[in-house]
Parts: sequence; C-alpha cells; structure tokens
Amino acid sequence: MSSLDVPPLMKAVVTQPNRTALVQQVPVAMPGDNEILVQVKTVAINPTDWKHLKFICNVGTICGADYAGEVVKIGPRQDPNFSLKVGDRVAGIVHGGVHKDQGAFAEYVKADPAITWKVPDSISYEEAVTVSVGVLTCIQAMFHPKRLGLVQYPNRVPDQPWILIYGGSTAVGHYAIQLARLSGFRVVTTASPRNHGLMRRLGAKAVFNYRDPNIVKKIKDVTGDSVHIVLDAYSEEESQLICIKAFGPGGGRLMLVQHEAPYIRRLRKDVTVQSTMLYSVFGRPYMMMGKTYEADPADRVQLIDYLRNTLPEHLRKGLLRPVKVHLWDGGLEKITDGFQHMIQGRVSAEKLVFRIT
Ligand SMILES: NC(=O)c1ccc[n+]([C@@H]2O[C@H](COP(=O)([O-])OP(=O)(O)OC[C@H]3O[C@@H](n4cnc5c(N)ncnc54)[C@H](OP(=O)(O)O)[C@@H]3O)[C@@H](O)[C@H]2O)c1
Repeated sequence: MSSLDVPPLMKAVVTQPNRTALVQQVPVAMPGDNEILVQVKTVAINPTDWKHLKFICNVGTICGADYAGEVVKIGPRQDPNFSLKVGDRVAGIVHGGVHKDQGAFAEYVKADPAITWKVPDSISYEEAVTVSVGVLTCIQAMFHPKRLGLVQYPNRVPDQPWILIYGGSTAVGHYAIQLARLSGFRVVTTASPRNHGLMRRLGAKAVFNYRDPNIVKKIKDVTGDSVHIVLDAYSEEESQLICIKAFGPGGGRLMLVQHEAPYIRRLRKDVTVQSTMLYSVFGRPYMMMGKTYEADPADRVQLIDYLRNTLPEHLRKGLLRPVKVHLWDGGLEKITDGFQHMIQGRVSAEKLVFRIT
C-alpha cells in the first residue's frame, strides 16, 4: 500500500497578524520527493512554539514542532536509506511557524523521513511526542564534536567526572541527565524541591534548588570544585550567571540552549561559551530574529544517525525514559491555552500533550 485516503483540507493552528494563532481549514500538503505525509495523532508544546508566535510570527504559517502519528502517504521518489511505509508509527520534528504548508499542529504534517524515527510498539503516541525536540537538542549539544563533544554511550568516560546539567526538570534537562549518566558522568543538577526525587531517579547524584542563594557554593562543595563541563538546559540570564560561576579552577565548556547573555563571556576568560540550535538539523539555512543561520550538513548527519540507529532501541530498552505526559483535552483548539500555561511558568517536569486525530 503506498497511500491511505487523505482529505483535501485539514484543520491546523495558523499564525495570525497581532501574534496570535487560530484553528483554520488549510490544504493538506502533498509530500514531494524525499517527503512523507503523517496523520498526526499527538503533538506536544515546546517553548519554541510560543516564542515563534510571540517574537517571530510569520503570518499564515502552521505552528508546532513535535508530532507523532501514522505515515499515510509517501512522496514519489525516496532515498532508500530512509525507507518508511504507509502505516508506520513515527515521530519527529518540523520547523513550525515558518512554512505555510508544514507545521506539527495540524491533522496532517508533511515531514522529512530522515528526521523521523520509528516509534517502538511499547511506546504510546502520547509518550513518543515528548521525545524528539528535547532529546535531539541534547544529542546536538552534548555529543557533536563541534559542541561539548562528550563521550557517548555505549562508550563511557573514565573516572566518573562531574557534569552540571542546570535545569534538570526542563524537558531538555530530563534527557540530558539520562544521557550524561549513560556516558558515565556524575550529574549535579538544579530543580524545584518537588522535582528532586525525580531528578535522582533519572540518574542525578546531587540536586539543588535553583532558588537557593548558596547554590554555587553547594555545587562547588559537592563536586570538590571540579566542574568543567556545563549544559544550561534553561539558559536565561540568571541561569547563565550561576553556571559560569560554578566552574572549577581551569574553567571549561559551557553549552547554552538559548542566546548567551551579552556579558557572560567576560566573567570567565577560561570558559568557552557556545549555544546550540536544533533547527540546523533540517539541512537548510533558516532565519531567526532577523539573523540568518547557515545549515551545517554535519549537524544533520549526526542526528539522522542517532534517530535511525539509537533512539528507538534506547526507548525500547528503557535506557531513556520519556518526560511525564500532561494530557490536555480539546485538541488543536486548546493549544493556545497550553501556550499561556507554559508562558505563565506552570509547566513543571512534564510535557503538555494534545491528541489530534
Ligand atoms: N536551542 C535549541 O535548539 C532548543 C531546543 C529545545 C529547547 N530549547 C530551549 O530550552 C529551554 C528549555 O526548554 P524545555 O522545553 O526543556 O523547557 P520546559 O520543560 O518547558 O521547562 C519547564 C521547566 O523549567 C524549569 N525552570 C523554571 N525556571 C527555572 C530556573 N530559573 N532555573 C532552572 N529551571 C527552571 C521548571 O523547573 P521546576 O518545575 O523544577 O521549578 C520546569 O520544570 C527553553 O528556553 C527552550 O526554548 C532550545
């Protein structure tokens, strides 16, 4: 079977003037060469979704990055290396809020099969949709040789060095803790006290409240002032400040998931500061906040390899646990309510997930 019946129109969350979004009827895009069409079963909200709406807002585009669903159509010509078939259960990401014919918050999404992973039978669509943005951000930030370049499981770093994963209860932090532990690091992390038990269950050896005014001293004490690798999974100005102060003598490498604060490098000359951006995975240049980012083929190769050869297996074996699902009723119509919930800072160690079809 090469396709299932697909209607000509679908519902989608579409950006409007004045930085809002509404559910509208739009054409279902037909997949071209090296593209597939997925019937969307679930979507999850990421901060990037509301940030695109609030700060970027390309009017008339479909919102949403993370989707999971069933392949219903295959484009005419496909790279045999990424062969998928109609009926496959998949999850993946698209660059939401940029294209008029492609976004996750819709009944159907046109997707790149190379940036799509097969969901194991043991993982529900609700769980699967919590994974892609968070885990791929970590893979890029932690293991790409141009970034932190850490040892990657099944290899293990010798002598269990400490790593600071700031913001362990964010979705990104949740996966970063697990991946760092698998690589043999001892993880020190930060979260609200209600999430400390979870942080330990994910593999953190030490966890501190990020609101504690003595947090830097506590990190230094528990690690013997040996921190030289930090992933800031929150990356606001206040967290960057804590992270840069937490390095031991000799400095090291700080990886951010948002833009760096303008003065942060000046605080420690012995710390290399970098930020990572998942959107480079699509293999084409992209614009954000007026700046053009070039595509780097190496980023795409790294993540494709992980999606094909590692991620489904690690989920199946329970080496990686998905983020807790917070199922939000109401489908596409209620997604902007979810944005507000997230903007108000009410998301805690969970993913807001919506069932779509
Ligand atoms: N560069 C990229 O490609 C990329 C990709 C994905 C995400 N991101 C960025 O990464 C950040 C995290 O995204 P996410 O989806 O993982 O976030 P999220 O899950 O929505 O974050 C919610 C969590 O933030 C924590 N938090 C709130 N204030 C904090 C603080 N001051 N310090 C530490 N933690 C704090 C809360 O912890 P408690 O509940 O424990 O208080 C809560 O669990 C966002 O800024 C996002 O835009 C970037």
